[in-house]
Amino acid sequence: MTATIIDGKAVAKVLRKKYAQEVAELSAAGVAPGLAVILVGDNPASRLYVGNKTRACQECGVRSHLQVFPADVPEFDVLQAIGKLNQHPEIDGILVQLPLPAHIDLRKVLAAIDVDKDVDGFHLYNVGALVVGNTIFPPCTPFGVQLLLDSAGIEVEGKNAVIVGASNIVGKPMALMLLQREATVTVCHAKTRDLAQHTILADILIVAAGRPGLITAPMVRQGACVIDVGINKLPDGTTVGDVDFDSVKERAGWITPVPGGVGPMTVTMLIANTIRSARRRAAQKTYLADDSFWQA
Ligand code: GUN
Repeated sequence: MTATIIDGKAVAKVLRKKYAQEVAELSAAGVAPGLAVILVGDNPASRLYVGNKTRACQECGVRSHLQVFPADVPEFDVLQAIGKLNQHPEIDGILVQLPLPAHIDLRKVLAAIDVDKDVDGFHLYNVGALVVGNTIFPPCTPFGVQLLLDSAGIEVEGKNAVIVGASNIVGKPMALMLLQREATVTVCHAKTRDLAQHTILADILIVAAGRPGLITAPMVRQGACVIDVGINKLPDGTTVGDVDFDSVKERAGWITPVPGGVGPMTVTMLIANTIRSARRRAAQKTYLADDSFWQA
């Protein structure tokens, strides 16, 4: 059996076209969606991700504003910049690219972002909203994974979903989103004993561990849906995920490639969240008055 490839690039392309139309409509109504991105330091991976984000904004017609600080910028300056963006009437989303240098307190930075503009979904209020099942802004990577599952027609309710990796950015919010959709969720992490014992039970296996080749064919249930969130640069310059694609595709029912799987969706969901925020601005509503459930 050879798995059906879930083509994230193609799904993202269709969504971006739809979002470009929505942005054009909002802009014509005088509420052009705007995203501010803060980058601290010159981490090459972060620069690459930020480049992808600003390009996606251009593609969809979202105004983007990039503010770059040197790696030794005082924490206060970053907090002050966030404060100004919070007040800016034409900025709908604020994103601080992570990781931050060690001298900057991540908790303070995330707490400083106005919940109404927290398009990354990392503010504690947003995390709490995710726990109780009515998120303000779904975090972009898990949101993108969810749409990929939907695009492939994968039912989540009642399924065994196993997540490898328990990060705040991917693993934990992914677990909460799948739980909300009534999957039976297992979260594995670096201290999990006998990883394969868990992964083999997965109907849906989502891997976000940052370890190339971690998941091999014998660890995967025949016909499972395998979503690879990993992006690893090998010494020879190639980019691979956490799943041994060539062997696992012969066993899985569905699989995402790397590159071209989850990555394009993450960036696209940032646009979705920025549009959502601009819609609230257009309606002069804060998140507290917005009782519509999020949708792509
Ligand atoms: N670093 C790695 N992934 C992300 C993300 O989704 N958002 C931000 N802000 N930083 C990241």
